[in-house]
Amino acid sequence: MKNFISAHDVADIDSLVRSALAYKADPLKDRTLGAHKRVGMLFLNPSMRTRLSTQIAAQNLGAEPIVFNVDKEGWALEFEEEAIMSGNTVEHVKDAAPIMGNYFDILCIRTFPSLKNKEDDYSELYIKQFIKYSGIPVVSLESATLHPLQSLTDIVTITETLAEAGQAPKAEGRRPKIVLTWAPHVKALPQCVANSFSQWVNAWGKADFVITHPEDYELDPQFTKGARITHNQDEALKDADFVYVKNWSTYADYGKIYCNDPEWMLTNEKLRLTNNARVMHCLPVRRNVELSDEILDGPASIVTREASNRVWAAQAVLAEILRSKG
Ligand code: CP
Repeated sequence: MKNFISAHDVADIDSLVRSALAYKADPLKDRTLGAHKRVGMLFLNPSMRTRLSTQIAAQNLGAEPIVFNVDKEGWALEFEEEAIMSGNTVEHVKDAAPIMGNYFDILCIRTFPSLKNKEDDYSELYIKQFIKYSGIPVVSLESATLHPLQSLTDIVTITETLAEAGQAPKAEGRRPKIVLTWAPHVKALPQCVANSFSQWVNAWGKADFVITHPEDYELDPQFTKGARITHNQDEALKDADFVYVKNWSTYADYGKIYCNDPEWMLTNEKLRLTNNARVMHCLPVRRNVELSDEILDGPASIVTREASNRVWAAQAVLAEILRSKG
């Protein structure tokens, strides 16, 4: 694996999932793999889980993670080619990234979309410029359109939960029903987590995958192709094994909040439609807006396990890149 930006960078998702679960069973089994290697972690936005889990993952492999909060401590970066830098940006990525390429062995980057210009956000300019100019492997800690470490974690968590129930996912036979449901929110949020979850579940190919959302919240079809999409949440929830809850803003009329109907928030009553489904969310979550207390504090929620598994997913990815680098 050269870079880790999307599901397309992974040759065999199940193999990466097995690697993550092996690290969960024995976190320090490769404690010298990253010896004398530095992992740069650049944050252009806030983070708790991604930042801490990736740091722990690097340390478990014997590598040294160095965090740089670019948004608070760095020079404002310019990403456009041939920019006339007479505005607020101070340093071009063309100048900064090669230096980071010399300082680090792997570069991890967290960016968010502007939610103002769809073409700019969906071009993934920031992460592509770091790949182009750093000259070292780049790992997305969430980009403008995708959150691959979260999605790998989500497949790890689903696989682990099914295995505990004695239901290893198979390409044939009854497949677990996974439902991605839109939920209300007070702010316009990116589509990254929903896009990415859709891309990974589709690429994994071992689930009956349904996406449900109100009208006008259609996601980019390049990520959802392969899923069944319905505006009827109750119908989607029927017999579900996993319900992934997430808000996102509109994609077509970009970055807007249209319907924000509180009826879309998952409750125990709605959960009764499912096959005793486990409930997932990437966190952070707005309690009693996006997801109810009764779900989050109840037995169906696996959000803490999911967030804790972020370490093992990050460790599997960093290990594979370190092995590829030699
Ligand atoms: N799920 C997730 O990415 O959490 P953080 O924003 O806290 O990293």
